[in-house]
Order: sequence, then C-alpha cells, then structure tokens
Amino acid sequence: MSEVFESPEAALTYVKTTPPAQGATMMGVPFERRDVVRVGMIGVGGRGSGLLRNLLAVEGARITAVSDIAAAAIAAARERVESAGQPSPAIEPDWKRLCERKDVDLIYVCTPWACHVPQALRAMECGKHVAVEVPAATKLADCWRLVDTSERTRRHCVMLENCCYGQTELLVLNMIRAGLLGTITHGEAAYIHELRALLMSDHGGWRRAQYLTHNGNFYPTHGLGPVAWYMGIHRGDRFARLVSMSSSAAGLTEYRDRHLPEHDPKRREKYVGGDMNTSIIQTERGRTIVLQYDLVTPRPYSRINLVQGTRGAFCDYPPRLYLDGQETHDWQPLDASLKAKHEHPLWRQHGEQATKLDGGHGGMDFIMNHRLIQTFRQGLPPDMDVYDAAAWSAPGPLSTISVAWQALALPFPDFTRGQWAKVNYE
Ligand SMILES: NC(=O)c1ccc[n+]([C@@H]2O[C@H](COP(=O)([O-])OP(=O)(O)OC[C@H]3O[C@@H](n4cnc5c(N)ncnc54)[C@H](O)[C@@H]3O)[C@@H](O)[C@H]2O)c1
Repeated sequence: MSEVFESPEAALTYVKTTPPAQGATMMGVPFERRDVVRVGMIGVGGRGSGLLRNLLAVEGARITAVSDIAAAAIAAARERVESAGQPSPAIEPDWKRLCERKDVDLIYVCTPWACHVPQALRAMECGKHVAVEVPAATKLADCWRLVDTSERTRRHCVMLENCCYGQTELLVLNMIRAGLLGTITHGEAAYIHELRALLMSDHGGWRRAQYLTHNGNFYPTHGLGPVAWYMGIHRGDRFARLVSMSSSAAGLTEYRDRHLPEHDPKRREKYVGGDMNTSIIQTERGRTIVLQYDLVTPRPYSRINLVQGTRGAFCDYPPRLYLDGQETHDWQPLDASLKAKHEHPLWRQHGEQATKLDGGHGGMDFIMNHRLIQTFRQGLPPDMDVYDAAAWSAPGPLSTISVAWQALALPFPDFTRGQWAKVNYE
C-alpha cells in the first residue's frame, strides 16, 4: 500500500509532481438542485449503518439502493429503511452495479480504506456525486486521481469529515469569524484514541494491517478538518509543507504479548508504525499546525482542537478559552452567554434533533448529513469538496514518506492547482 522510494530525491520529485488538469476547478461548483436526494450506500457495517440511521431522519433524503458483501449487514439495512417508512431499497451485492443505477444521485462509500478510491472513482465515472468516509485516500497518487476524476466528470467528491460539524468546532469557527481570537497563527490537531483491543480483535484486522507496513499518521482528517476550517484552507490559504517524525513502536506489541496466547498467529506480527506520530504543517500564509496520531498507548481520547490567534486561544478536552486582557493566566471554561452568542445556526436549528439521534459522536453526524443533503437540495456547493478530501487525507502518505527519510521536509501538493488563493466563499 505504501508509496516507497529509492532515495529522498525520488520521493521529493514524486511529491512535487502536479499532473496536468483534466477539467476546470470544482471549487464553488453547485450541486444541481433537486427536491429529493436519492442515496445509494456502499458498505453498511459499523459506520455505514450509523450514517444510514441518520440519513433516514434527514428531510429530503431517500435511500434507494444498498450494497455490502455481508448478507447480515444488507438485511439489517433493508429492515432499517423499511421501518423508517421508505420503500424497500434495491439490494446490489456488487457495488459496481449500484454505481450504474439510474435511481441514485449521491453515493455514500463507507467501506474499509482500500475500497474508498476505486468505489469513489467508479461512482463519479457513472455520473454520481460521492461522499466518501475518512480518509478518502491513503496514497498521494489516489488523492490526485480523486481530484482529476471530479474535475473531468464534474461530479463532487465530498469526504465525510463529521468532526467539522461538532457543536464545539462550529462554535469555535463562529468565534473566529467574529474576530474573537484575532489573527489566527497556529493550530494543534490530533487523533489520539486508544484502540488496542479493537486493533487486536478479528474485526480490527484492516486497521491493524497499517501498523505492519506503515510508519506515519494513518488517520489525519478528524483533527485536521476543523483546524483547516478555522484557517480558511482553500479559502485564501493552503497547506504548503509538512515534516513528520514517529516515536518508537512499543505499545501494540506489549499489549498483544500481555493479552494474546503464544499460539495466536498475531504473536508473529512485527509492527513498524511508531506509537505517536507528530507532523508539522506550515501554510502558505505562514501558519503552523501540529498534527498527532496515536491509537496504541493508554491516554484519554483527544483531537486536541487548539487554535491560537493574536487575541486569544481555544483548546478542547475540555473546551476552554484564553482571551487577551483577562485577569488571570488560567484557561476559562466556555460560559453560557458566549456559547449562546456564538452558537452556529446549524446547531441552533437542528441541535436538539441531532443530539436525540446521536450515534456516539454527540450529534455531529446528523448535522453533517443534514447539511450535505440540504446543500444538494438547494443547489449550493458542498461545504467540503474534493480538494479538502485530498489535502486533509494527504498527511497520511506525506507523513509516511517524511518519516521514512528521517523527517524529510516535503512540499505539500497544491491539489487546487492555484485556485486556493482565488476562491473565498462561505
Ligand atoms: N467518520 C467517523 O467518525 C468514522 C467512524 C468509524 C469509521 N469510519 C470510517 O468508515 C469506514 C468503514 O469503517 P467501519 O468501522 O464501518 O468498518 P466495518 O468493517 O464495520 O464496515 C465496513 C463494511 O463494508 C463492507 N464491505 C467491505 N468491502 C466491501 C465491498 N467491496 N463492497 C461492499 N461492501 C463492502 C463490509 O462487509 C462491512 O459491512 C472506514 O473508512 C473508517 O475509517 C469513520
């Protein structure tokens, strides 16, 4: 899976190569307005079934087709759609046939990582917009393929980065837009989620497989997406360079040896992925972002979600604020009046329903699905386009290359081919 190079020079040449465009930009391109958005779902396992439950509650969304290789997952999905009072969806065991269907406008791809790119490409080639789970791609070449195919087919490729729609993240975005934190200069983002038991379970095989071959940040988007929004990435700024280092690899091996019997075949696995990966990204306008990733050492969950400006700072876990001129030198909890003043309209209008439907992520999934379907219905551009999908996923392969060559500083591909400086829309 890895992109492997003979020398740092070869890696640099590869990273710097921008393929020729095959079509005009998709930035700011609206969906074609329609009353009802007909959704086909590929992959209705853990994540897909949760998104399906959400989508069934979204006004104007209809689930017309479902594909999965697991019969039980399909049966559960069909039952869920019928129970919601929608017509029984078409069942397509072969996902390629789902892409070809005429009664689908938008395809959700909720399968394991290796399936994302071929399924998203095929969906767009078949004339469908596609919403793909995170990360959209794990190789740079695939990030470019998504961009090029979206531009050529004029179909959107949205990455389903739900964390951008968290109540706290949208509140912070509104505070930044109101100027509360001044000029934004720095951010910190992470996916720190202790998942050793899942990785070692049979269900966790495709996630654990990364640790056998890669040393870098395999899951960069949850922390990075919201920080990219705070900084207006692709709305006047862009990621310009990245450097990455990994700690030693010990956590997964020690956990496995403590918990699995000697005869378990996993005892023979050798993990090369370091426990904590830390990357630093600098933007074209000089801002910095520290991006971290760790699934395998004991620690409370955190996406850090820190943003620093010239007038103050916000940091999450728990949410707290520091404003220029305040009397003490301590973080302050977010007070109710500030929350009420800066609450994002999406949460103001749909927060109650989102919280009720919560599938474990505090309501952000419903807000994301609702917003995606409403932008489609109203003929607006999606909030997150193929350039965001590519740029937020790219720290995966870039960090792997940088780590492999002793923290080689890499230029960050400009997936927008220069458009980042021109577009400024909300
Ligand atoms: N955004 C989030 O918060 C979030 C949370 C969890 C997972 N995810 C992402 O969702 C994706 C799926 O993760 P998951 O935890 O649901 O995994 P999962 O293994 O529970 O589900 C994947 C499903 O895809 C099906 N599948 C596999 N190959 C297929 C194929 N070729 N055609 C059709 N169906 C196929 C499987 O049978 C399974 O039902 C991953 O990309 C993961 O990173 C995102």
